[in-house]
This record gives sequence, C-alpha cells and structure tokens, in this order.
Amino acid sequence: MNITIVGTGYVGLVTGTTLAELGNTVYCVDIDAKKVEAMKQGTVPIYEPGLEEMFLRNIQAQRLFFTTELEEALEKSEVIYLALPTPPGEDGSADLSYVLSVADQIGTLLTDYKVIVNKSTVPVGTADRVTAAISSKTKVPFDVVSNPEFLREGFAVEDSMNPARVIVGSESERAKEVMGKIYQPFTNIGIPIIFMDEKSSELTKYAANSFLAVKITFMNEIANYCEKVGADVDKVRLGMGSDDRIGHRFLFPGIGYGGSCFPKDVKALIRSGKQENFDFQILEATEKVNQIQKVILVSEIEKYFGGNFKGKKIALWGLAFKANTDDVREASSLDNIKILLEKGAEIIAYDAIAEENVKKILGDQISYASEMYAALEDADCLLIATEWSEFKNPNFELMAKKMKNKAIFDGRNMFPLEQIEDSGFFYKSIGRKT
Ligand code: UGA
Repeated sequence: MNITIVGTGYVGLVTGTTLAELGNTVYCVDIDAKKVEAMKQGTVPIYEPGLEEMFLRNIQAQRLFFTTELEEALEKSEVIYLALPTPPGEDGSADLSYVLSVADQIGTLLTDYKVIVNKSTVPVGTADRVTAAISSKTKVPFDVVSNPEFLREGFAVEDSMNPARVIVGSESERAKEVMGKIYQPFTNIGIPIIFMDEKSSELTKYAANSFLAVKITFMNEIANYCEKVGADVDKVRLGMGSDDRIGHRFLFPGIGYGGSCFPKDVKALIRSGKQENFDFQILEATEKVNQIQKVILVSEIEKYFGGNFKGKKIALWGLAFKANTDDVREASSLDNIKILLEKGAEIIAYDAIAEENVKKILGDQISYASEMYAALEDADCLLIATEWSEFKNPNFELMAKKMKNKAIFDGRNMFPLEQIEDSGFFYKSIGRKT
C-alpha cells in the first residue's frame, strides 16, 4: 500500500519507518525543509535504539521517502496518517491547530477516496472535527479513523513491530478493511486488532496513559508510606505484582513520571472532563502527588546538609526523563535542578545522551561532565535522576575517592541495598530501608 505520514516527529517517524518495514511505500511529509533534507541523506533526527538500522534499510529498499510537498505525497497514497503535535494549551487542553490546519489542506487536495488516520494523541471528538474540516472543503469521499499509538520512547522499534494490540476507531466498513490490510502482518502473528468507534478509540489512549500514571503514582505513595512504617517497597512491589490482576510492570517507584506523554495526557483528560462538568478526581490527585514526588529528594538532601546549600556541589547522574532516550521534556532532573540552583547549590551533571538537550534549556547554569566519575570530583553528594544502565554497577571505591562526602540520593532505586551496605555511603532511595 502507498501511505503518507504527515509530521515526522517521534510518532510520525517511527510509524513511517515501521509501515515501510511492513512492506508499504511510505512518504513522510514535514514542513521543516532542513529536517527533510537531513533525513533524505540518512540522518535520523531522534535517538531511539534500533531505529537507525530500520530507517536506513527502508530508504535503501526505496520504501521510505521524505518530502515537504503534501500534494505530491497525497496523490500517490491511499492512506494518510496524521502524526502532528498536539501540545498542551495554556489551560492544559490539547491544542489541535496543527491537526486541523493539515485537515483543511487535505480537504483542498483530495481527488479520490482516502483514509485519513489520526495517529496523534487527540481528545475525544477530534475525528469528528477533522471530518468536518475536510468536508467543508470537498465533496470527494473519505473516512477519518482513530488509530492511537502506544509505543514507549526507548523501545519504539520493539513496541511498534510487536504491539500488544492495535486499536482502530472507525465505523466505516471501507476504512476498516483498509486498516485491516495495513495491519495484516500483525494479525497474522496473533496480535489483536480491536475495532471500535472513533470516540472510544480516542479515549482508550488517554485512559491507558492516565491509568499507568495513576499506577506509578499509587506505588510512589506506597513507597513514601513504606518509609514511615519501616517497610520495604521492593518487597511490597514483588508481592503485589505477582498477582496477575496487578502485574509487575509500572510498579517501580521513583522521583515521579515525566516525559512528553503522561503529564500532558493526564492534564488534557482532566481538562476534557471539566468541559463536560466532570471532575477526574483521581487524576487531579495523581498530578498533585507526582509534582511533589519529582522533588521529594530535595528535602532529604537539605536535611543531610543541615539546611544549607550554599557552596554545596551536587553531582547529578542522568538528565533524561527515563533511560534510553535523549528526551528531557518534563524530566524530574529539571525540577530538581531548578530548586537546587535556587537554594544556592552548584550542579555538575552527567548524561551521555541527553546532555545536548538540557544545554539548549539551561545553557551554562549548570556544568556538564564528560563521564560519570568526572561529575563526582569534590562533590558533596550524588543525586541519581535517570536509571541509565551504566549507573547500575558503579565502582563505589572510585566514587568514594572522588567525592568530598560519601552520600547518594537515588531517585531510581538503582542499587540493591546489600550492594550499598558495605560501601560506607550514606544512601537514601525511595521507599526502602536505609
Ligand atoms: C508512554 C506510554 O508508556 C506509551 O504506551 C505511550 O505510547 C506513550 O507514553 C505515548 O503516549 O506516546 P513514554 O512516555 O515513552 O511512554 O514512557 P514510559 O516508559 O511510559 O515512562 C513514563 C514515565 O514514567 C517515565 O518518567 C518513567 O521513568 C516513569 N515510570 C515508568 C516510573 O516512574 N515507574 C515505572 O514503573 C514506570
């Protein structure tokens, strides 16, 4: 099948590459000419393990093309995926201006039946709004389908080639048949495709992300309570997760959830609820608890320093919002940096992958180390904000030699307590006996 993808951000690029890998011919359209040129030359604009190989393989096989010309791509395609940004507006609701402006353009360009697929995370009712925008410009038949994306950053290739399920929101038999054909390579290997109406499909995405945000936040509160009563959240987590109604995944406590999805989607669902006079009380609480959780270790560090941050040098391992990504959007590291700087501390950070993105935001407000141990030179303590694998089994002796004070504040519960016990370090993690 010939497919156009409009928008080559994270979701668009991964979706385009995956659809090419499944044997389709894919035209990726973006208004950023520089980015399009770079992609044509084989440069992947995002960091994602395994993506580059798949990307280059499909360019070479002439299944993956890049252009700034929507009209040209559209003419050749039977299906058009919209993978455009839906940033939160001032009030937290998703801003649909990119989606609706492209819908307008599509309306003026249609010459024969096409399926338009909403891949971006969009509020309930967006398929109807896209339909209305296109219909206002054309009499040519078309269908708008909701097909939300569930991939995780850092696992994009794995998740997109082996999704838990495919959700297709459409009540048009013609569109359902087209979508069924695109995803046949998945259904052939037993991955379910779940058909439903557009609105239920749109809500499924928000409900799934919000549920996971609640799950993490619930565990963070259990972890905080463990500390009060002397329980160990690692044990509680294992005990709870073994019940397959609960499951082990997304039960890891830490310094809160971040990223471009959970915070935005929780906010947007709360906002959509308000528009219907509906209060998502559990989500409001989740948002509040998460904001506190993100900087929960600052007060512990403050206690350790006896309330005085002046002249204190804090080493920070990890800047990305989670491991295996260079994304720092809503990263807990940034919330911690902001408060620690306000309190007068000096910060030297290390993150091999995300440093560049933080530099764009913070410039030289903090210093950057070229490797993990270099960040520890004369440090008064270490704060760990991202669970990068390279931090998992450090040389504690070398760390002790470099640091002024042997103190670790671990926002990602990186080390088994037995490992840290004999190291002589003061160690504070989340929800565990220390
Ligand atoms: C999330 C969803 O997991 C994807 O299914 C969805 O497609 C995506 O949003 C999206 O809407 O596009 P992502 O934002 O890449 O994916 O990251 P996650 O792996 O879900 O992690 C989100 C945050 O939760 C991170 O800050 C992570 O550190 C935190 N987290 C995750 C925890 O604190 N504990 C856990 O047990 C799991």
